[in-house]
Amino acid sequence: MKILITGGAGFIGSHLAECLLGAGHKVHVIDNLSTGRLDNIQSFRDHKNFGYTIGSILDKELLESLMDNVDQVYHLAAAVGVKYIIENPLLSLKTNIVGTDNILELANKHKAKVLITSTSEIYGKSENVPFNELDDRLLGPTSISRWGYSCSKAIDEFMALAYYREKKLPVVIVRCFNTVGPRQTGQYGMVLPKFIKAALLDQPIVVYGSGKQTRCFADVSDVVAALIKLMENPQCDGEIFNVGTTESISIEDLANKVKKMCKSKSRIDYMSYEDAFEEGFEDMMNRVPDLSKIEEHIGYKPQKVLDEIITRMIHHYEK
Ligand SMILES: NC(=O)c1ccc[n+]([C@@H]2O[C@H](COP(=O)([O-])OP(=O)(O)OC[C@H]3O[C@@H](n4cnc5c(N)ncnc54)[C@H](O)[C@@H]3O)[C@@H](O)[C@H]2O)c1
Repeated sequence: MKILITGGAGFIGSHLAECLLGAGHKVHVIDNLSTGRLDNIQSFRDHKNFGYTIGSILDKELLESLMDNVDQVYHLAAAVGVKYIIENPLLSLKTNIVGTDNILELANKHKAKVLITSTSEIYGKSENVPFNELDDRLLGPTSISRWGYSCSKAIDEFMALAYYREKKLPVVIVRCFNTVGPRQTGQYGMVLPKFIKAALLDQPIVVYGSGKQTRCFADVSDVVAALIKLMENPQCDGEIFNVGTTESISIEDLANKVKKMCKSKSRIDYMSYEDAFEEGFEDMMNRVPDLSKIEEHIGYKPQKVLDEIITRMIHHYEK
């Protein structure tokens, strides 16, 4: 098949591209390198079935030129990372809303199936864990930029479902929970690569808030395998799925674990959310996915446990 991946030079997108090439597909990537890097696609850049375009999903003409005979579009390009969203609120909203609109409109015109990556941020600060796909959402005020990310991804979901219902465009929506692994950068606020980098350099590991907040970290290989299965299964069309893991850890424990596994001399420091992000910043205490729907549809069970994931990441960053 001919497959287009938006955001394919990013963390998850580059792993996905590699897997799809391995399965014999023709893969083309579009990425503006805002948070992605050419380094991420370096190892398969010269593969005969691979091509890439440096450009934006906001450039509709460019996008259209890439859609000829495309069978599937994995739409991963987005403004990502709490820090990035807070620093670039306007561009983030435009990328996530207008960019997704462009993808859906052109996919519909060219009859290509679409998978859209959404986020666990959709659930907002709800405390009703584990989060089920049909749960209510609980968001803070619009004056806090972080909620703009959640809302923009929710608009993406609404639009994708509208295309499915009105135009019969086959779409799948996947709400990724924290996904980690090699190639992820800590530059835009992703906690695990930031902790590992600090620990390897014996610099302070900075925990935001009390550190008692918990998260579940899934390995990118589990998530990518799930994305491909969801895309390939027609029973998943028009549906929303959580993907991630239920193995939970507090951020404070994560900092200690990383420090120990890196045999680091780093100090563990604490910083308030206001100092780290913005006045009035709110975080969710716990975030756990209900994975029963994805398990039922594609037999999904995460294979990698946290220690294994961290070990693999440490090796990657050491290199
Ligand atoms: N990693 C996670 O924990 C996580 C969690 C929830 C949701 N997601 C979703 O998964 C997807 C991939 O995220 P990721 O973790 O790989 O982050 P990433 O930042 O590595 O990937 C996003 C990619 O999109 C590209 N991009 C941004 N704006 C673009 C534009 N206008 N045109 C073209 N390319 C553009 C970036 O350069 C980057 O390569 C995103 O949609 C994100 O919302 C990821």
